[in-house]
Amino acid sequence: MSADIFAGQGSDPDLLAELYDLEHDAVSADLVFYREMASRLEGPVLDLGCGSGRLFRAFLDGGASRILGVDGSAALLRRAEARIAADPVLAAAAAAGAITLHLADLRALPRLPVGEGVGLAVAAGVLPHLDGPGEALRVLAAIGPLLARHGRLVIDDVGPGLLPSRDLPLSVDWRRQLHGRKVVRRSSLMRREAPDGLWIAYSTITDTVRPDGTIARLPASHRLWYPYPEALERLVAQAGMRVELSYGSHDLEPPGPGSERRIVVVARAR
Ligand SMILES: C[S@@+](CC[C@H](N)C(=O)[O-])C[C@H]1O[C@@H](n2cnc3c(N)ncnc32)[C@H](O)[C@@H]1O
Repeated sequence: MSADIFAGQGSDPDLLAELYDLEHDAVSADLVFYREMASRLEGPVLDLGCGSGRLFRAFLDGGASRILGVDGSAALLRRAEARIAADPVLAAAAAAGAITLHLADLRALPRLPVGEGVGLAVAAGVLPHLDGPGEALRVLAAIGPLLARHGRLVIDDVGPGLLPSRDLPLSVDWRRQLHGRKVVRRSSLMRREAPDGLWIAYSTITDTVRPDGTIARLPASHRLWYPYPEALERLVAQAGMRVELSYGSHDLEPPGPGSERRIVVVARAR
């Protein structure tokens, strides 16, 4: 499996990245949570699978001294650069060397300049892209030693309340506008329950109107993995860390079967 989620999709990766932002930039329910986390944990923030840098501003607003954004998609990192250039606060931080972007596969992290250790590491929406427990353990085991003594890793994914309970046939997810032109996203999914978690084969077809009026059809597919809570806790322990807190939302609600998020705060083992 490639670290670039747009690799092998047979479509233009920059357009897929733009469409990705169209969908993900609408997500803002987590920004206060990340601002607060950054304000409580001194030291660099390591944004693992940072995508186009959606969370960077929240980290800076929380007082982060440095942000290291790591992602396997060159197209999404190009969008992160554009986001930084367009926001004076981000641009000033980047000019001062306080934001650095790293094109890398989380499963083979290069040496990162984290000084005395990372205060806050964030893996938001990233774990499901890994190919099951073996890869997740490799990634977690590489993150643990990067954390400062007081450092925390936040693993933040869709919770059980929003995971599909049955296969879904192709249907329209949303209709939006991009540069004043219509975009329609359709998706279908097939789920498989396994001892280590829920696997979802997720296919999307995005139709966009080109400037000349013709329609560009962009297919993409991902296999996603949502480990069960006990499976994730075991992996965290095997990686030499411990689950300190779990939340079911960015408002810090307790986790439950109907939770929209599964947020796990991980510390180094004592
Ligand atoms: C759902 S997006 C989340 C982006 C960002 N964390 C956010 O919350 O907006 C998942 C991100 O993980 C990245 N990713 C997935 N697998 C990766 C891997 N093996 N190595 C590096 N990045 C990866 C993708 O490129 C994508 O940017």
